[in-house]
Amino acid sequence: MFKRITGLFSKERISENEETLLQAVDISRLPNHIAIIMDGNGRWAQRRGMPRSFGHKAGVEALRNVVKLCSELGVKVLTCYAFSTENWKRPQDEVSMLMDLLVEYLDKELKELHRNNVRINALGQLNELPQAPKDAVLRAIEETKDNSGLILNIALSYGGRTEITMAVQKIAQMVKDGEIEVSEINEKLIGNKLYTAGMPDPDLLVRPSGDYRISNFLLWQLAYTEFWLSNVMWPDFKREHLLKAIIDYQRRERRFGGLKKK
Ligand code: IPE
Ligand code: IPE
Ligand code: MG
Repeated sequence: MFKRITGLFSKERISENEETLLQAVDISRLPNHIAIIMDGNGRWAQRRGMPRSFGHKAGVEALRNVVKLCSELGVKVLTCYAFSTENWKRPQDEVSMLMDLLVEYLDKELKELHRNNVRINALGQLNELPQAPKDAVLRAIEETKDNSGLILNIALSYGGRTEITMAVQKIAQMVKDGEIEVSEINEKLIGNKLYTAGMPDPDLLVRPSGDYRISNFLLWQLAYTEFWLSNVMWPDFKREHLLKAIIDYQRRERRFGGLKKK
């Protein structure tokens, strides 16, 4: 099994360390869904005396590497937090730069993602995006919609509270229209009204950058997710980090409120 996976990597990318880590991964027990808060770009750049935009550009490379690894391993869903509902508060030039970077990423990567059978999806209030990034995202979703490999969710103008609020509005409308009774509102219905409808909840949440919070990310879906936090800044995040996170995840015992398995 290990041979089959390493065969997919180009030679120069396998450092000794990555190979050792790969051997430690149990491919039959991969997390189905990995969520990542791609944080620390600004600090990474500022520590180098560079503008924050430099960090955002470097962060794209980290995203590329992680998507490729998840696709190669056979992870089913990868959700990356790219822009929050609160990030609109940032200076206009940083927001525009991030939007331009998104368009550039999709322009450059779409072919490769498509070739790798990746299905692109967006979580968030897409209608709040400016026209160019909105079009780029819609095009990427449309072009990759029949792919059956990794689902790459890009969280854009995403907020967990907004997501839940929207779900509540939809459900309230259903009750008002007489489609359901109040007593029929349950966790399954709520889950089906979220942006992640039909997808498994994340098994593993990764947050680099040394901050220990969820910053309005997947508030509903993270109920029993395993967290892996690291001080590494997102632009420095390598394949090895994700492999370490997966290995660590596989050593944990998930009880979901029950008791240890005998
Ligand atoms: C994450 O990096 C990218 C976005 C939030 C868009 P930051 O820009 O938050 O970088 P730091 O956290 O300030 O270092
Ligand atoms: C979370 O990072 C959002 C993204 C990575 C897109 P932030 O930098 O916006 O979060 P806070 O402000 O540190 O909580
Ligand atoms: Mg940040």
